[in-house]
Amino acid sequence: MKTGKTFFITGTDTGIGKTMATGCLTALLLAQGYRAVPYKPVQSGGIWEDAKLIAEDVAFYRAVSSLAYEQDQLCTYCMEPAVSPHLAAQQTGTSIDPARISEQLDMLREENELVLVEGAGGLAVPLSSDDMSVYMTIDLLKELRLPLLLVTHPGLGTINHTVLTAAYAQLHGIPVLGLLINRFPGEPNEMEQDNFSMLVRLTGLPVVGTLPILAEPTAHAVRAALPAIEKTVNVNLLLQRLEEAQNTWIHTT
Ligand SMILES: Nc1ncnc2c1ncn2[C@@H]1O[C@H](COP(=O)(O)OP(=O)(O)O)[C@@H](O)[C@H]1O
Ligand SMILES: [Mg+2]
Repeated sequence: MKTGKTFFITGTDTGIGKTMATGCLTALLLAQGYRAVPYKPVQSGGIWEDAKLIAEDVAFYRAVSSLAYEQDQLCTYCMEPAVSPHLAAQQTGTSIDPARISEQLDMLREENELVLVEGAGGLAVPLSSDDMSVYMTIDLLKELRLPLLLVTHPGLGTINHTVLTAAYAQLHGIPVLGLLINRFPGEPNEMEQDNFSMLVRLTGLPVVGTLPILAEPTAHAVRAALPAIEKTVNVNLLLQRLEEAQNTWIHTT
């Protein structure tokens, strides 16, 4: 039986901090006693190490938290080319099958209370394409009925990036749990403070947390920063929003 609650972690762009957020949230949830696990359905830009293709995002999760799973259980498709998943799939002769992702997710849900699914890039990213159609990340979210958490930044450009991503999710009927603002300075300047409140005002979404700027973003530094992160991330709000989002999906069946 599937029991675990699941949400999808997306970002306003690639490199915004989805892996950082997934690693931090998993570690926080585990520290608070939840059986939580991260999952990366599709990773491009895999790196060869000892004749094995390593999914760097999964390696990061595993370095931050001790997880009872091997890479293959936490990542369904790991491809070497560092390009959009649909192109990496074409270049490597891989056929990305949403049913396989769904099965692997079910396996993780059966064994965990919470599954944190990290997307590749942002929401408008193609996962596969043929002459007839393009299968987008947003299509996978609809198929798996996952709400999402949007990772963003407090700097110049964030209002446009964040409002557009939230509007795209809303256009497709995907519930958004809230915003997680990565690289939020200890002493935000006037623009960063204004961006924070403008994001809330324009999207109507709550900020479920902020993550600090780490001098060295290593797994060790993340573990050391967890007590501070626990104070800036509202896990209860995140879980409450997740509960509400699941009810929304149920009522739109
Ligand atoms: N809060 C942070 N402080 C310092 N460096 C960060 C922070 N968040 C992310 N980084 C660094 O920025 C890069 C991109 O972050 P990552 O989480 O991998 O982004 P994404 O998963 O969205 O592509 C990585 O090198 C990561 O270590
Ligand atoms: Mg990542």
